[in-house]
Amino acid sequence: MRLTIDDVRSRFKKHFNNAEGSVYASPGRINLIGEHTDYNGGFVFPGAVQQGMIAEIKPNGTRTVRAYSIDLKDYDEFNIDDEKGPNASHFRYVFGVVREMMKLGVPVEGFDTAFAGDVPLGAGMSSSAALESCFAFALNDLFGDNKIDKMTLAKVGQATEHNYLGCKCGIMDQFASVHGKAGYLMRLDCRSGEFEYFPWNPQGYKLVLVNSCVKHELVGSPYNDRRQSCENVVAAIAKRHEGIETLRDCTWEMLEEVKAECSEEDIRRATYAIGETDRVLAVCDALQKGDYETVGQMMYETHAGLSQDYEVSCEELDYLNDIAKDCGVTGSRIMGGGFGGCTINLVEDALYGPFVETVKTKYKEKYGKEPIIIDVVIGDGSRKLA
Ligand code: GLA
Repeated sequence: MRLTIDDVRSRFKKHFNNAEGSVYASPGRINLIGEHTDYNGGFVFPGAVQQGMIAEIKPNGTRTVRAYSIDLKDYDEFNIDDEKGPNASHFRYVFGVVREMMKLGVPVEGFDTAFAGDVPLGAGMSSSAALESCFAFALNDLFGDNKIDKMTLAKVGQATEHNYLGCKCGIMDQFASVHGKAGYLMRLDCRSGEFEYFPWNPQGYKLVLVNSCVKHELVGSPYNDRRQSCENVVAAIAKRHEGIETLRDCTWEMLEEVKAECSEEDIRRATYAIGETDRVLAVCDALQKGDYETVGQMMYETHAGLSQDYEVSCEELDYLNDIAKDCGVTGSRIMGGGFGGCTINLVEDALYGPFVETVKTKYKEKYGKEPIIIDVVIGDGSRKLA
């Protein structure tokens, strides 16, 4: 069941004395290709989904935020001038956004809020970025006269992950949540910040997510280690070449030069990341020609790289990828940070039914639970609902 504005309104009324505030929404995202490239200065190719976070917010004239998480039935309060903030992560996201907006000079004041979401948690669809972007967008509207531009709002969410949750994520998730547009994917150059909307209306194909239901948690996961590996290689190359800031600036020849002085593991990580930027460009090219076979082939290559070189897959995700291949699915790969969550699959219309049946049956036979199938519809980014 999709979450509606009324679900949030009724809970807000109940918890805050029948009051009514303003309501905002911000989505989760999919990513067609370009994984672990954002913090390496490469390209990503995400789109917003229809599932997201909805928050009702009403300024309360104090310095205190009173927050209710509808999904977790949990309530907490914090003072916005406090440095430490709440402990529970679902409230830390809100606290972090408040603090980061204040750093930008937005005169945030206390507010009452109730929020809920229908992005599956831990599925690699960026439920946390949806929450951050929802509050960044809302506080800009409520307290900041909408003076902060969208990319900066996305960076507020990213800084929240870095400074309050300890996850050194890239910009993709928050970017997609804020900038999403129904019917369009977005190709973002994470080095320059430039992006382009690409219509997504594949004739004869569907995009479908298969959630392994292996929960993925980026906070405290080896995600930060992957980033560190890439930075180690960049540091080695930068000793020999000027102007090298990320793997995006590195060529295959440069990588070859530092092979002896980096660990074999770091070199494998960098090999994947450099190759992935090329694959995003190949996919954009193929899409413009309507060549879905090449798009699919790149997706399988990404999966192999993420699994063998970047090592962010798990047995269940590899199994889902194998099933897709056996069924003749055009493209399939792990989506998002990895370590669990979903695969994203590009499936011909005629194969959709048989694939969904097969993947459900086979996965259940092996792991005792059915994977969850999510049909992708590309939706809008952060917005005010009421
Ligand atoms: C997570 C991070 C993103 C990105 C992806 C992998 O979703 O939040 O910044 O690095 O993993 O592509």
